[in-house]
Amino acid sequence: MTENSNIKIVNEVKEMQALSNSLKKEGSLISFVPTMGALHEGHLSLMSTAKEKGDFLVVSIFVNPTQFGPNEDFNKYTRDLDGDIKKISDIGVDVVFFPEVDEIYPEGFETYIEVQQLQKPLCGEFRPGHFQGVATVVLKLFNIVKPDIAIFGEKDYQQLLIIKKMVRDLHLEIEIIGMPIIREGDGLALSSRNAYLSDEQRLQALALSNSLNNIKRMFNDGENNIGNLVEAGTSILNESSIKDIDYLEIRDGNTLEDQEEAKKGDIVAIAAKVGNARLIDNTKL
Ligand code: PAJ
Repeated sequence: MTENSNIKIVNEVKEMQALSNSLKKEGSLISFVPTMGALHEGHLSLMSTAKEKGDFLVVSIFVNPTQFGPNEDFNKYTRDLDGDIKKISDIGVDVVFFPEVDEIYPEGFETYIEVQQLQKPLCGEFRPGHFQGVATVVLKLFNIVKPDIAIFGEKDYQQLLIIKKMVRDLHLEIEIIGMPIIREGDGLALSSRNAYLSDEQRLQALALSNSLNNIKRMFNDGENNIGNLVEAGTSILNESSIKDIDYLEIRDGNTLEDQEEAKKGDIVAIAAKVGNARLIDNTKL
């Protein structure tokens, strides 16, 4: 354990569990924000809410290898603990849990969690194994940090649904709270991966939120034909020369099932590559 400003940094599972056990004995309510670091205002908004909701705030920073595919950006993902600690120094984070990979996945590790249906569509189709990695690491982190409340962003909408389902299905006594997407002034959703964008690609990336806004506008004006809505959204991506679109889909906001027609509460979700960055964004109708 090292001290860094007022934030305690814990690297070991056993130490984190012992600390959480003693906090719980005192009757403290533990709130928790899991992250992979490269923190931005989106992460910070989750932490501010977590601070209000609990007595003791734990943030984890762990770039989780099991949720990255072989050709994805695990190695190049930004790792900057000192920078991250500076960014969160005013929020009142009590502990940063910052383990090494072999602390979380010691040799011989072979147990994984799957939320079978919800993991299939959208990002699940394009990132095989991704949500198995997410569910597995989040359950591990829950067992290590022992939170009463855990906060996730709607930016990763499918992830949020999967975590809520896992908590329900496995009878975990943890309240899951979802928080709205934090955006730049021009609409671009904040993401650690925006750091990969050149100035030109940064402008191109705006087409994602523009496309979602356009679909929402059309829906509010009475269009509920999914083909028409998706076509209009896709043409906005194409106008910005975004060709590498994994998906632009409208699905039920709770089950992620396919719809005959768009209805209120559905989720419109996009994943597309801009340069080397695979960006995701979504909005609710
Ligand atoms: P990461 O991408 O670091 O995101 C951590 C949390 O911040 C997630 O709950 C995500 O939805 C939220 N977040 C990211 N960008 C946001 C934005 N612009 N507005 C609001 N919230 C935002 O998601 C992960 O890490 C990992 O999969 C993790 C859950 C930590 C498991 O490894």
